[in-house]
Amino acid sequence: MTQIQAATPEDTKGIEEMLTASGYSRTAINYYINKPHMGQIADPDITSQMTGSCGDTMGIYIKMDNGVVGDAKYQVMGCAGAISAAMAVVDLIKGKDLDYARTIDDGVVFNVLEEIPVKKHHCIQLAVKTLHKALDAYRLKKSA
Ligand code: FES
Repeated sequence: MTQIQAATPEDTKGIEEMLTASGYSRTAINYYINKPHMGQIADPDITSQMTGSCGDTMGIYIKMDNGVVGDAKYQVMGCAGAISAAMAVVDLIKGKDLDYARTIDDGVVFNVLEEIPVKKHHCIQLAVKTLHKALDAYRLKKSA
């Protein structure tokens, strides 16, 4: 698991330069640095957790509001690719219904991120699989 924490503006600049040199787009770097949807939601309606083959782990927490995703967060113990992908997924599903949320796939997330290193594409898969696992479990519960 690789997680870099910036302590000062200079650190942030250094991290941005490293990520740019590694092949991350400005959009992906902003998601990683700002982590706008990182954390947990108390009493979520929908949740799941997954660990990737790399050992990185993430959980998703979704709160519904009148049939659409009212709020969502990911808790990510993982790399810059995993964090940026998870943050992008939340922006894609917020305010949308669950049928739409289930259509989100790796390609859609990649298009939002614009560019991340090829070796990090599996990190997008982890974020998407975590979402799909949560939605499928929720649907199963609702239909039981
Ligand atoms: Fe494990 Fe990115 S290296 S999710």
